[in-house]
Amino acid sequence: MTPDRGATPTPLLQVNDLVKHFPVRGRGPAQMLRAVDGVSFTVNAGETVGVVGESGCGKSTVARLVVGLTKPTSGSVLVEGGDIWARGKEGAERRRRMQMVFQNPTGSMNPRRTVGDAVAEPLQVLRAPGIRAKVEETLSLVGLKPEMADRMPHEMSGGQQQRAAIARAMISNPALVVHDESVASLDISLQAQILNLLVDLQDRLGTAYLFISHDLAAVQAISHRVVVMYLGEVVESATAVEFAARPLHPYSVALRRAALLPDPEIEQSRVEVGLTGDVPSPLNPPSGCRFRTRCPYAEQKCADEKPALRPAQDGHYVACHFAGIATATTALEGAS
Ligand SMILES: Nc1ncnc2c1ncn2[C@@H]1O[C@H](COP(=O)(O)OP(=O)(O)OP(=O)(O)O)[C@@H](O)[C@H]1O
Ligand code: SF4
Ligand SMILES: [Mg+2]
Repeated sequence: MTPDRGATPTPLLQVNDLVKHFPVRGRGPAQMLRAVDGVSFTVNAGETVGVVGESGCGKSTVARLVVGLTKPTSGSVLVEGGDIWARGKEGAERRRRMQMVFQNPTGSMNPRRTVGDAVAEPLQVLRAPGIRAKVEETLSLVGLKPEMADRMPHEMSGGQQQRAAIARAMISNPALVVHDESVASLDISLQAQILNLLVDLQDRLGTAYLFISHDLAAVQAISHRVVVMYLGEVVESATAVEFAARPLHPYSVALRRAALLPDPEIEQSRVEVGLTGDVPSPLNPPSGCRFRTRCPYAEQKCADEKPALRPAQDGHYVACHFAGIATATTALEGAS
């Protein structure tokens, strides 16, 4: 048989037009909170896709939808081409191919059980022969001593706890691990150590990551591709190299510019780049382009017409009527 060299391999993860609306009951009739509103992206085997955006833009909801902790209102999540919500064993097995690491490692570990038991949990058998050896091997893999298996979670430092949480995610050899702000609670030097560990594990085991963070610097440090979310939608996606050289959406440019500035200057930078004020409520998002209420380049068309996510060039997509108007060059020059 002739191999089909032209065929595009099926992505490991396909997120198709994913929607999650939450009913919110107040005094009047129930309203819909549009947490995630038509999000699509793919993750290939062994790659890292970073998702970045401000607080409340729907990142954690996407994370929970991807690993199957929440069912979508509409849209689909496919693993190796198959729906994670397919009936019976098939769907359950696809969901098991993915694991998640949360921001707060202690929150996801039972305080009354040993670290070893927590790490073994995804294997679904804690006492079978060989489990202890597997736990110790996985602890070593993430840079922890095997005897840590006998500790209680509170006897570890924050960095050790996060390594144990990563061991737990990796022990079942998942195809994809979703990291939801997994380094956010650590100080800068621990963050760098954990990011290095993730890269090293990926090189050795070929695990794909969906790396979700509000911190663009962390996302850019680890990702092959970057997806920018704003108010439940994807506004830009590109390879990390292309995104670093040429962000095209005014929101991406603003995020990048703010990320380049040291902390005390951030508030000032937010004023300069138009990131003033809060993200509008997902209960009542602006018409047309959702970023228009904070965009310094907004025109009437932006209120009248929703910009589609369009290809700007190979593998680079942007949802803006005037994509490129806030070019990286201008914005970054202004920041220096
Ligand atoms: N179970 C829920 N019921 C109602 N609203 C929810 C629920 N979960 C999330 N939301 C709302 O959905 C929106 C998106 O929340 P989400 O946690 O996904 O954002 P996020 O980008 O992860 O924010 P952060 O950076 O603060 O973690 C928010 O307005 C949030 O209040
Ligand atoms: S479509 Fe208009 S409001 Fe939206 S980002 Fe582009 S210029 Fe700004
Ligand atoms: Mg979140």
